[in-house]
Amino acid sequence: MSVLAPTQIDDILAQVKKKAFEETANEPEPKLTGEVKWPVTAEIGRGLENAVTNETKVGYVNGAKGWLNYRGYDVFNLSQFSTFEETSYALLFGAMPTAQQLKEFNEKLAANRKIPAKIIEIMKMYPITETHPMISLSIGVSLLSTFDRTTETLTVEAETEVAIKLIAQMATLAAAVARIRSGKEPIEPDKDLSHAANFLYMLNGKKPDKGAERVMDICLVLHADHGMNASTFATMVTNSTLSDMYSSIVTGIGTLKGPLHGGANEQVVYQLEEIGNLDNVEPWYRASREAKKKVMGFGHRVYKSYDPRARILGPLVDIFTADPEIKRLYDIANKLNELVCAELGKEKKIFPNVDFYSGLVYKAMGIEIPMFSVIFAVSRISGWGGRVLEYLKDNRLFRPRAVYTGPMLAEYVPIEKR
Ligand SMILES: CC(C)(COP(=O)(O)OP(=O)(O)OC[C@H]1O[C@@H](n2cnc3c(N)ncnc32)[C@H](O)[C@@H]1OP(=O)(O)O)[C@@H](O)C(=O)NCCC(=O)NCCS
Repeated sequence: MSVLAPTQIDDILAQVKKKAFEETANEPEPKLTGEVKWPVTAEIGRGLENAVTNETKVGYVNGAKGWLNYRGYDVFNLSQFSTFEETSYALLFGAMPTAQQLKEFNEKLAANRKIPAKIIEIMKMYPITETHPMISLSIGVSLLSTFDRTTETLTVEAETEVAIKLIAQMATLAAAVARIRSGKEPIEPDKDLSHAANFLYMLNGKKPDKGAERVMDICLVLHADHGMNASTFATMVTNSTLSDMYSSIVTGIGTLKGPLHGGANEQVVYQLEEIGNLDNVEPWYRASREAKKKVMGFGHRVYKSYDPRARILGPLVDIFTADPEIKRLYDIANKLNELVCAELGKEKKIFPNVDFYSGLVYKAMGIEIPMFSVIFAVSRISGWGGRVLEYLKDNRLFRPRAVYTGPMLAEYVPIEKR
């Protein structure tokens, strides 16, 4: 794997940011910002479209312009200048850390990265190769809770400690799952490596070069938070019952796994492999339109513009195109992207989302496809944690209503007479 130097990667990010800001400057200004006076009035569509759950300062998705921020910092800047550790701190604690705060946070992550050996033993006892790695990750998080007595007191302080532990440990769990699945022994974290470098080290058994570390770090930053998406909402619903952080994160992992959400990154690569070659892109696309099938990696409930994360991840795949297999899939992806944007983009404002290019970056880094959504979760734990903690400070149970369309007062007929 040959990767550019981090400075060259920074140049790519700067160009992407410039282009994105120029192209979207005239799009409408943001909605759903500022003070809220409850109750709010909204026209709610199926799937809770337009429903408002809470007020937040964690982050904001500007769907019209295709901009995304965490704590007010846009992801173009965060991916260029920040790190996953610093971004996670901001998501959890509300502001960027000072140098001392970041040092202490990094020390805490390093102290917590290791997972109990018993968990590794258990992972070797069930049919892990036949189990989706997201299920293994959620088993791992549930098992971690059995080693942690903090779950018995549900306070913001205790839950914050759990969130930090999970940011540290989910990467270790994920790497262990990947290695056991491929018949290898898990590798213990190295206290001198960054989170991204540790993750790659624990996956591959060798310390990554600076370029690979930087690419993984950018991927982790880009996936760390994303408004009130399905898994974040699910995580918050569980925590709003005053359950516990581990159970809440398990809910989030289960929700993220689906192909309409985080699981789409896996499906995109299967889709590109199914298309197979450049000549087949147009016939494949026409057939999928004819069959009214969704093109994976496109469309979004909130973005009605190019997802900023796809803007960044696309050029990152380009870094790896010395590998002919990645080049083949990248060319197919770009042609498909052109077709979809020209047609569905114009008709229905459907553009590539985060999952369209992320899988190709992971594939280029030698990671097996079923692990892709696990990497998403390894990053999203920071956003889940930040939002759960924010809501817990002024918690109110989530409890919507459904409109009943069944019969009222049906007559009970004994079973033998039905
Ligand atoms: C993300 C997603 C679930 C959002 O769904 P949603 O807000 O409920 O939007 P809908 O599924 O109602 O789609 C609205 C319209 O756009 C079309 N559409 C949405 N995504 C599409 C896609 N990926 N390919 C083709 N058409 C798409 C729908 O068919 C629908 O058309 P219609 O109004 O003519 O019936 C949806 O775009 C999707 O399934 N995308 C593919 C999976 C994916 O990439 N998920 C990752 C999201 S980050």
